[in-house]
Amino acid sequence: MAEVELTGVAGDLDAAVADLAERFRAALEPPARAAAELDSPTLRARFDEPLPDDGMPVEAILAQLDERSSGGLAGSTGGRYFGYVTGAALPAAAIVEAWTAAVDQNVGMWPLGPAAVELEQVTLGWLADLLGYPGAGSAGGQATGTRPETGPPKAAPGASGYFGSGATMANTVSLAVARHWFGRKHGVDVREEGVRALPPLAVYGSEELHLSDHKALRTLGLGSGCVRAIPIDSEYAMEVDPLVAAIERDRKAGVEPAIVIAQAGSVNTGASDPLDAIADICERYGLWLHVDGAFGAFFGLCERTAPLVRGMERADSLTVDGHKWLNVPNGVGFALLRDAELHHETFGGSAGYLTPGSGANLHEFGFEASRSWRGACVWAALKALGRSGVEELVTRCCDLAAELGAIVEDHPRLELAAPAPTNIVCFRYVRDGVDGEEANRAIQAEVAAAGSVFHTGATLEGRFCQRAAICSWRTTADDVRALADEVVRVGDGL
Ligand SMILES: Cc1ncc(COP(=O)(O)O)c(C=O)c1O
Repeated sequence: MAEVELTGVAGDLDAAVADLAERFRAALEPPARAAAELDSPTLRARFDEPLPDDGMPVEAILAQLDERSSGGLAGSTGGRYFGYVTGAALPAAAIVEAWTAAVDQNVGMWPLGPAAVELEQVTLGWLADLLGYPGAGSAGGQATGTRPETGPPKAAPGASGYFGSGATMANTVSLAVARHWFGRKHGVDVREEGVRALPPLAVYGSEELHLSDHKALRTLGLGSGCVRAIPIDSEYAMEVDPLVAAIERDRKAGVEPAIVIAQAGSVNTGASDPLDAIADICERYGLWLHVDGAFGAFFGLCERTAPLVRGMERADSLTVDGHKWLNVPNGVGFALLRDAELHHETFGGSAGYLTPGSGANLHEFGFEASRSWRGACVWAALKALGRSGVEELVTRCCDLAAELGAIVEDHPRLELAAPAPTNIVCFRYVRDGVDGEEANRAIQAEVAAAGSVFHTGATLEGRFCQRAAICSWRTTADDVRALADEVVRVGDGL
């Protein structure tokens, strides 16, 4: 049979790879701007063309993407991007991620990505070690051990983990396991019988609980209506007495208290809930403790912030992001679970066409069947930084946040909007004759439009404020000063 060259691989591969190397190298430099400059219609028009009838040579495709994206890229790889909670991609992580795309492993089944599966398992173990959580990396149903009849497992017969697309996915995986555990406790196999067979239940989280936790509960059929919003204190952390009162209230009303979702690092202010005290309460009432530590799980690596997450190791499940403080490219987070057997039971299953190999089948630990080799870029980041490098990175970011906090406190027209003990600083521009709310919204928008720095806002106690989250490996003292200067410049010009 004659060999046919498919359109999609037509062209000069060497030229394409040489071009990739050049553009990739340039992309590893800090971006010229912190924010994109073009608006939605302009960018859409650049891409908006009919589906091409014919293919184009491989060496021309990336150039077109690069050109059309120009002016429309967020500057999240730079040190002056303070929006949301966003890490910059470490070069080692970006390079390894690019290579994993080319070797295209499917980590869902061992035979489809043998080395990928083994690397991910080892990396999950490293992450657990780094964060001081009971050892993970035993996915594959190797765990044995018994669970107490009433509460979640308190020993760690075999912890496990899962790389998902981010903290939202990790929260959803963790809460699915919690839901399965709760069903078991009440004689319901939720995998078969569904949530309709569960008794009425309650979940507890602070008033600052992240939207993704609500979304996870909605996706799992529990509904966010089962969440009791527990008041926060002046530090924006969950109050413990109202938590106990809410649990007692539910018990009296015949509603089963099920899960507490505590936060290590809440997204608005970086505050952490009192994890040790909450773990005591969970133990007393036999509740599942899930900790959403998307970025705050790393607080334990900085001496000053470590006390804020004491007790995190007692969680039954823990969510952590990769693309925040680990500074890997977007699309990676992970869940760590105390009980590998329960984790496997939640998602396990097979089908006639799924032909196993000698290792773990990771589709049995999450929602996805096929998935990319996400853990490789995390492995690369940990190889590049080492334990000491991650500690240094986290400590430096918290120190820079303290520096920004001090600049704000010293400035006559800036004030802190919330305590800033970690890597997030919320502050306002204040001046007589300028309306606080409107001015602060305008400042955030104008600073972003000018584009030399980028930050986002938060609404605290119903009032808008400037919010900077510092977790990029590139951010320096000059960068945080530039942000304060920019806010003042724009504010003074109003
Ligand atoms: C506490 C917390 N949980 C969950 C998320 C959602 O993370 P992702 O965007 O990776 O899904 C975030 C994001 O900022 C967060 O701060």
